[in-house]
Amino acid sequence: MDAFLVRGGGPLIGAVRVSGAKNSALKLLAAALLAPGRSVIRNVPDIADIAVMGKVLEHLGVGVDARDGVLTLDVGDEVGDETPAHLVSRLRASIVVLGPLLARRGHVRVATPGGCNLGNRAIDLHLSGLARMGAEISFGADYVEARTGGLAGADIELPYASVGATENLLMAAVTAAGTTRIGNAAREPEIVDLVAFLRRMGADVCGEGSDEIVVTGVGALRPADHTVVGDRIEAGTYAVAAALTGGTIAVDGVDPGHLRMVLSKLRAVGARVDERADGVTVSAQAGLRATDIVTLPYPGFPTDLGAQFLVLLSQAYGTSMLTENVFDARFSVLAELTRMGADISLESHHAVVRGPRTLSGAEVRATDLRAGAALVLAGLVADGEAVVHDAHHIDRGYTDFAARLRALGGDVRRVDVPVGAAVR
Ligand code: EPZ
Repeated sequence: MDAFLVRGGGPLIGAVRVSGAKNSALKLLAAALLAPGRSVIRNVPDIADIAVMGKVLEHLGVGVDARDGVLTLDVGDEVGDETPAHLVSRLRASIVVLGPLLARRGHVRVATPGGCNLGNRAIDLHLSGLARMGAEISFGADYVEARTGGLAGADIELPYASVGATENLLMAAVTAAGTTRIGNAAREPEIVDLVAFLRRMGADVCGEGSDEIVVTGVGALRPADHTVVGDRIEAGTYAVAAALTGGTIAVDGVDPGHLRMVLSKLRAVGARVDERADGVTVSAQAGLRATDIVTLPYPGFPTDLGAQFLVLLSQAYGTSMLTENVFDARFSVLAELTRMGADISLESHHAVVRGPRTLSGAEVRATDLRAGAALVLAGLVADGEAVVHDAHHIDRGYTDFAARLRALGGDVRRVDVPVGAAVR
């Protein structure tokens, strides 16, 4: 069933509860490797990436029991020290086992990451930081290897506030000898969630959420029980769906404080946004207006909502510009949106969107999970039928996407159609 069949229709109306954050849960699973014993992670999203990370952990000798969003991880006194290419090729994020395994085993060999094709997803900042902590790094044809006689705290200034590098260095530092300072650290809510888990495990960390994190190494960590923070990107996707379709959606299970810039841009285009402790309600009438967006590391506008906002801006009156500063392949969705009738031109890393333009259903292809979600949203306001192929990309980060949109009134179904076949 590797496609979504979407028919344009009316406004989406109702309520949706988002899952735990994919981009936190994946790292919490890796962090569990740091302590022998039984850790429990709750509110884990039921998505393909989690299933793959679970298999990576099992390959490392961890017992993984997944039940109703609760993952029970039995980490042995011995854990493996290498991850297989066939798993890592599907999940770039698996690179975050580098830090924990180096800390636990003093040696790790990770297949070079695959995952979504968002351009050159380097890991040089991860590796140079670990090298400063005493790791010897070497490369094979399709793997990277790190070895150490014992990690030592270091003063590390990240040239770019990389999320993954911050996470790997954090997890390497919590049991390193001495103090580690991570300057220009990533500030994402998922980093704060990871530190909350590490702290429950006995780690000594301060400064999370700011651009300077200081870790004082401790002798050993203990297993812990933690509930994953709500997924702000999934929440933002449904918030865009409300504004785009002129509907009203109560999005629950997310902290509005994690969506400041996104809510500000929804208000800028003319949507109404009501905030509450555990969610937001977004509504809009017709007549959205253009606005400009610049994607940046948190607390800037998240790159992971760029594609979805391009669809929204294609329906807004006027000319908008979305500038992408994080991933050089984020604009792969443009070609597909253009085929549906959007008027978007690319000038370097600026997408210029002229609207409103009527969209028409077409056979399109998801190139990454956020582009795929954006194309489904576009189908919701297009004339006729859209078929979004390679739906497996969307399954990586969205739980029950078709069912949740249908529950809101969207005409969205999973179908199994070869490319070019008539769609029924
Ligand atoms: C995380 O990716 C997220 N993935 C991404 O979400 C998200 O878009 C990104 O952070 C930014 O918020 C997960 O958490 C699993 P980065 P990550 O390290 O860690 C360059 C989604 O859709 N870079 O901040 O890879 C890199 O090439 C995904 O859920 C280096 O050059 O993000 C990229 O251009 C997509 N060298 C930029 O920095 C490095 O060593 C951002 O990377 C590391 C990164």
